[in-house]
Amino acid sequence: MDPQTLTELLDVAVLERLDRLDALEGDELARSTALRKEGYSAEVTAALLTQARLRQEAAAKLGPFAEDMLFTRDGLAQATRLPVAAHHARRLIGDVAEGESFRIADLGCGIGADSVAFAGMGAQVSAVDADEVTAAIAAFNLRHLPDAAVEHTRAEDVDLDGFDALWFDPARRTIGKADKRGSTSRITDPEAFSPSLSWVIDKASTAKAAGVKLGPALDHDLVPDDAEAQWVSHNGEVVEVCLYFGAARQHPGRGALVMGERTLLVHEHNLPREDESGIGELGKYLLEPDGAIVRAGLVAALCAPLQARRLHPKIAYLTTDVEPSGPAAAGVTSYEVVDVLPAKVPSLRKELVSRGIGSVVIKKRGADIVPDQVRRQLKLPKGDKATIVFTRLGDKHVVLLTQPV
Ligand SMILES: C[S@@+](CC[C@H](N)C(=O)[O-])C[C@H]1O[C@@H](n2cnc3c(N)ncnc32)[C@H](O)[C@@H]1O
Repeated sequence: MDPQTLTELLDVAVLERLDRLDALEGDELARSTALRKEGYSAEVTAALLTQARLRQEAAAKLGPFAEDMLFTRDGLAQATRLPVAAHHARRLIGDVAEGESFRIADLGCGIGADSVAFAGMGAQVSAVDADEVTAAIAAFNLRHLPDAAVEHTRAEDVDLDGFDALWFDPARRTIGKADKRGSTSRITDPEAFSPSLSWVIDKASTAKAAGVKLGPALDHDLVPDDAEAQWVSHNGEVVEVCLYFGAARQHPGRGALVMGERTLLVHEHNLPREDESGIGELGKYLLEPDGAIVRAGLVAALCAPLQARRLHPKIAYLTTDVEPSGPAAAGVTSYEVVDVLPAKVPSLRKELVSRGIGSVVIKKRGADIVPDQVRRQLKLPKGDKATIVFTRLGDKHVVLLTQPV
């Protein structure tokens, strides 16, 4: 959206029309024709329809708040999910006492999802974004929070003195190279992030408190010694790694936070000593650790609380003879092992057919297969459903026939 169209969209009457525009009512062409008949320009009509669609898509990340917000497609794709943003706010701000002031800078605020959470926690938020339209949209999204202000400027040009906390969520996708559908591609070189990772870390490590949100594939070698790195999953999806500095750092080193129906915090200090992280025989259950725990390299930390052992030193599956329970069970998906089958497709097919299995969920770790390809090759006749897991027991490639617990 260009700045002129955004200005037109921000007109009270146009925003009211947006609120009344049900994204599901009629097909796109019919709605577009109706809006044009009402006198809206082609640009404003397109913007209204896009905003209605983005509001619907945004509900998954931002809940009911989405109905009252504006977006860019890129801004929504990069926005923090609200429960995760609330977690950032708790880490950086904590409880602000009545009458106390806490100033936080959001340096690359996007459409403002993190800033909404910071302001909701009672902080005074100074948010900036280098993109003019994105900054204007963030200002709109924060309009009900009087202690939040948004400026269109570069993070590098902000005077960072006097803030109690700094928040960075650098852009990690190509800008200006979006194709027609608005998709962008991921930047892998941290120096090409905007602002660059070295600039961000330099500012974060000297701040009173700071948080830096990055992609979960971050190389562990890039985690500074003075930071806490926390990988986060939400509803089973690994969404980020966040580096915390200064007062926002709770424990140095690596941690993982599983968020969803149940919550689990795992930290490097929960890891067993090398000689205690046993590899063992396949037990009654196969445990698939949450992706945040895997990315943080903390799978072995689940062994003691789940009375589990590793199946293989390089494969992130655990096994146990007792059904997982207690808080650590939130860190795994459990499968009961029914049988061990051969990994070669013809023999595997024979075994599955003889058991009446006709539909399979295929999982893999430590096996070089493409699940969809294997499913096509198996050509199973109609039958029961099962989960099959391609993995290794020692040097042997096997398939574990399982049922989710
Ligand atoms: C990952 S998004 C932020 C998402 C935000 N935390 C949220 O939850 O909505 C990064 C934003 O940084 C902005 N940006 C990129 N380079 C910047 C710079 N040098 N200074 C300020 N903002 C910048 C981009 O325009 C983009 O909106």
